[in-house]
Amino acid sequence: MRAREPVTVLVYHPDASDAKAYAALVHARRAPIRVAVCATPADAMAAAGEADVVYGWKVPAEIYPRARRLKWLHVMGAGVDSALVPTLPADVIVTRVPGVFGPWMREYVLGWCLAITQRTETYRAAQRERRWRDDVLPERLSGKTITIVGLGDIGRTIAAAARALDMRVIGVNRSGRAVRGVERVSPLRRLEGAVGEADFVVLVLPLTDATRGVFGAQALAAMKPAAWLVNIGRGALVDDAALLGALRARRIAGAVLDVFATEPLPPDHPLWTLDNVIVTPHISGPSTPAQMAPVFNDNLARWLAGRPLRHVVDRARGY
Ligand code: OXD
Repeated sequence: MRAREPVTVLVYHPDASDAKAYAALVHARRAPIRVAVCATPADAMAAAGEADVVYGWKVPAEIYPRARRLKWLHVMGAGVDSALVPTLPADVIVTRVPGVFGPWMREYVLGWCLAITQRTETYRAAQRERRWRDDVLPERLSGKTITIVGLGDIGRTIAAAARALDMRVIGVNRSGRAVRGVERVSPLRRLEGAVGEADFVVLVLPLTDATRGVFGAQALAAMKPAAWLVNIGRGALVDDAALLGALRARRIAGAVLDVFATEPLPPDHPLWTLDNVIVTPHISGPSTPAQMAPVFNDNLARWLAGRPLRHVVDRARGY
């Protein structure tokens, strides 16, 4: 019997130490594999011709025309929009990692909701001035309405946590199909109605042709003046000019923003300076080698055994 040719897995991450850490955890028990570790476009170009599988984050789009053996791309992050580039051949299967980001992101979302209702900024500022501000009370999060726009595995995980804090949870998805634990689900075309009831609107949609710029002037105008927008999806879901206008005019209470159309957020961007905006550097759902590895290795075992992969992205839908 001829020995089986090893499968080559190209691990790509733009940070060299992360690339090594991801590669170190790639394991296959029953078949030979070769792992190529790349952290620069030049290295990836050189290795692309041998790659059967790419396990990567922000993989340079220019490698695909050279990657003639490539059959499967596994994306290390929560969103796959940046992976679905036109150079990626249509027959390459793309997989993602569900189940890992929701637990991080529910803590981010509810942590900031609580920071707002507990008036953290007010008491910290008062402390700096040695003022006893018992004229201001916290608010209860319990009973407030959270509208979760995007009810995939991350949105549903946030919904469960919000319910555990006795929040009223409503949501929006593409079709308006009911989701267990969400009091009412509206289709995306009725976004404004669902947003209008919210004290907190959470954007956790994938970025696709159908969702780019979906949160614009109309959605912002539908929000209550006391409501907060929390964006953990993608910056490009939101019309930046409309958001800046609403924040400056205080037509909404504020925004907690973890994602931006341009990242890092440029130093001269006005969002940095608004006191009703909380900027965080795209950290609400970090990828870690230890959390990504079991999902990838499980799929790799399936791949090597000729079994169907799990968590396959519908490339036409874009998620
Ligand atoms: C993402 C991520 O997809 O950070 O945004 O994983």
